[in-house]
Amino acid sequence: MKIIYSIKEMSDFSKKMHLQDQTIGFVPTMGALHVGHLSLIRKARGENDKVVVGIFVNPMQFGPKEDYKRYPRNLKLDAQLCRQEGTDVIFYPDVRQMYPANYKTYVVVQDLSDCLCGKFRPGHFKGVATVVTKLINIISPDVAYFGQKDAQQAIIIKKMVEDLNLAVKIKAMPTIREKDGLAMSSRNTYLHKDQRRDAVVLYQALTQAKDLIRQGNRDSLDIIRKMRRLINKRRSANIQYISIVCPQDLKPVDKIRNKVLIALAVFIGKTRLIDNIVVSP
Ligand SMILES: Nc1ncnc2c1ncn2[C@@H]1O[C@H](COP(=O)(O)OP(=O)(O)O)[C@@H](O)[C@H]1O
Ligand SMILES: [Mg+2]
Repeated sequence: MKIIYSIKEMSDFSKKMHLQDQTIGFVPTMGALHVGHLSLIRKARGENDKVVVGIFVNPMQFGPKEDYKRYPRNLKLDAQLCRQEGTDVIFYPDVRQMYPANYKTYVVVQDLSDCLCGKFRPGHFKGVATVVTKLINIISPDVAYFGQKDAQQAIIIKKMVEDLNLAVKIKAMPTIREKDGLAMSSRNTYLHKDQRRDAVVLYQALTQAKDLIRQGNRDSLDIIRKMRRLINKRRSANIQYISIVCPQDLKPVDKIRNKVLIALAVFIGKTRLIDNIVVSP
């Protein structure tokens, strides 16, 4: 396994692979890898000749008061995990190469970026769309793999690839969870012991919503009210939003008639966690 630090070297590698008719699967991450990331790498490994894992903590997608500085970083451990999963290349560019001092260009996916998480993290999805465009241009992967845990991100990237005619297939893979249901996330390492216990309430609320819908409840407001009641029982929990939306356009749904995306963001202490499920009535 190679670790490539330079953009030029990365694109040279990709060109060489494509000349040899080798397909490339790409897994973009911010590192601090967990089993959720590994599930994406395994899928890429099974479907491609070469697997590239991107590790880049992208400053452009963090707000000024967010955790960019303290975001967990551990290249040594990440490299070990990637090697175990049969990764061919870790692409690990530094910030000055990705965003030189005179950097000017951004990618914005309108509407889809302003709701749900985007409403509370202005500029976040602009940062995500911009970095993913750059990474796709540098690596030219045949397929790029994303997690359904970040449902809005996957939807935005798919739309961007369609609108900009990018020559890559986007695949969204299921959310990997801890035994108790908590969605795996690099930010779970921020949680203290009691907070970790409270954090399971995100998944419990989503499960409750799914059960209510399965039992015939079609009233989003009522379902959200019940989810709020459950989450608010936990001392360390502070709800940022709970939304029931159309999984295509992310617009709110009042009466549930078709498949819906139920998405939420909850602060557990100072740690902001997200989760979601897709439910059919
Ligand atoms: N629990 C999970 N299950 C599946 N995919 C995940 C999970 N957590 C993160 N991912 C995916 O891994 C990719 C990199 O996410 P990243 O921001 O590095 O991790 P995290 O969101 O855990 O901090 C994204 O496509 C994200 O959706
Ligand atoms: Mg993340």
